Amino acid sequence: MSETDSLMYARGIFSIYKGKGGSANVVALKGINLDIERGEFIAIVGPSGSGKSTLMRCLGGLQHPSAGAVFIDGQDITKLDEDNLVPFRREKIGFIFQEGNLLESISGYQNVVRTLRYSGNSYSFSRKRANEVLASLGMTSRMHSLPRRLSGGERQRVSIARALANGPSLIIADEPTGNLDYENTDNVMGLFRDLHSDINTSFLMVTHSQHVATYADRSVELRDGRFTSQHTEIDVDDLIASREVIIGDDGTLTLPPEMLALLSQYGKLWSFSANFDDDHPKIVAVPASSSAEIGKCPVCGDPVTPDMALCKNCGAQLRI
Ligand SMILES: Nc1ncnc2c1ncn2[C@@H]1O[C@H](COP(=O)(O)OP(=O)(O)OP(=O)(O)O)[C@@H](O)[C@H]1O
Ligand SMILES: [Mg+2]
Repeated sequence: MSETDSLMYARGIFSIYKGKGGSANVVALKGINLDIERGEFIAIVGPSGSGKSTLMRCLGGLQHPSAGAVFIDGQDITKLDEDNLVPFRREKIGFIFQEGNLLESISGYQNVVRTLRYSGNSYSFSRKRANEVLASLGMTSRMHSLPRRLSGGERQRVSIARALANGPSLIIADEPTGNLDYENTDNVMGLFRDLHSDINTSFLMVTHSQHVATYADRSVELRDGRFTSQHTEIDVDDLIASREVIIGDDGTLTLPPEMLALLSQYGKLWSFSANFDDDHPKIVAVPASSSAEIGKCPVCGDPVTPDMALCKNCGAQLRI
């Protein structure tokens, strides 16, 4: 069941890289919520290290978030096992990386054909489609060259052709113009803008450049793992309607970590009651009057108290 009609929505995304050899854990994403409408072109802008690539990989199913859910076309991709995730990703999402990630030993054209073949298309269809997409990007005369013989802008066009070839619902691009000069940046971004209005595909682009972000319909700023402008008010009703809870044999309630992250106010007591007023019984959460002195950070498990806004150990946001 989908919470909204959005093509994609993400709720309460946390991503933690475990520290090695005694170094501290890095909490790269701290409770991200995001909605992308069908056909929308959205840019996520942030400085180096703010979590852009981590977010892109979590949203695109290339990396499992530590907590949170990512729905694409109504499917929570964080719940798919690898056998189901790979075909789902292939059908729904096209990726464009900063370096282009082209296979260097075959031509640009063959790179596109290969992607189409991997998705189960016949050889003749794949060749026809590759020709068509590369032509639409003005690459007909250069497409049979090896990637190393192409300019940065041309390589990026091949990457775009490859991402578009399967007609995905969503294209995710990580710094797509990172290696391009000013003129080629404008060309590639102009192309993105035209394509997105022509084909009703959603584009999610991450970039450190405010200039590049101006090409998008909407941009959101990421700083230190959080969206700066996004507020995180919870509609508990909505939360309850859309989240799974488990009631154990002994009557205890188990909440998923993303719900805990959203309920926030760790260290406070919540009281849950059932409400049978309308057709669907609801569980209603309200802060209980007495506060527990101490609780646990749901991200790293460190003790936290109700007055703390951020966990001192991992920096996770504790209160809304
Ligand atoms: N594999 C990893 N192991 C440990 N820490 C990581 C790993 N990947 C990223 N990080 C850390 O997570 C944080 C976010 O990294 P991320 O690559 O998402 O940032 P970014 O915004 O894409 O940066 P850039 O603009 O430089 O590409 C950084 O502090 C980074 O050092
Ligand atoms: Mg990055």
